[in-house]
Amino acid sequence: MTAHGPFSPRDWDAHPPYVYPGYKSTSLRGPTKPLIPLKQTLSELTGPIYGAESVGKLDHDLTRNARVNGEPLGERIVVAGRVLDEDGRPVSNTLIEIWQANAAGRYIHKSDRHDAPLDPNFRGSGRCVTDGEGRYRFYSIKPGAYPWGNHPNAWRPNHIHFSLFGPSFVTRLVTQMYFPGDPLLDLDPIYLAAGEGARKLLISKFDLEITEADFALGYRFDIVLRGRSATPAQD
Ligand SMILES: [Fe+2]
Repeated sequence: MTAHGPFSPRDWDAHPPYVYPGYKSTSLRGPTKPLIPLKQTLSELTGPIYGAESVGKLDHDLTRNARVNGEPLGERIVVAGRVLDEDGRPVSNTLIEIWQANAAGRYIHKSDRHDAPLDPNFRGSGRCVTDGEGRYRFYSIKPGAYPWGNHPNAWRPNHIHFSLFGPSFVTRLVTQMYFPGDPLLDLDPIYLAAGEGARKLLISKFDLEITEADFALGYRFDIVLRGRSATPAQD
């Protein structure tokens, strides 16, 4: 356990409110009474530390970590970036977990009833630990859009779910990364629930430096934990 200084309060202009009328299920689970701020004491300023020994060699490569009899289908992608703290310093040795639908827009989950094929060679989850400069790199398949029951003809934009621990319990972030130019973004209440000025922080950027020749397109997604330029949460 490592103790860190106090962290800035969350910027609620950037983060989605707990209850957002367009995102229907938030009204069933969001708090209805004002929140009581907790003091940042040792239990908030420390957190679980994950060692590289618990992350396997293929855990960051979703194109290979669940192969049964061949390659997963779809467009290969590389997603890479840096994790920074509220002062712009790299957050090293922190666990990042991702999960996503396959290329057809289907999750391996018993509650996913979308009539689209599962891919026997794609599980859709992975993890890695940032290096000394806060950098991470995942290999995956571009996730497909999928329908959901929020409103008539509702479709989620292509997205990858991210969970980060950071150095303390108050830096825990669960969010979603989107892709540039997706026409579904402006129709998606989960994306729109983030503050107008902060939404763009959720959209990755196509990056030729990350793109690997003859292999996969690259997208950059930098993540900031806490502070004024924090990446908004998307639970
Ligand atoms: Fe999703």
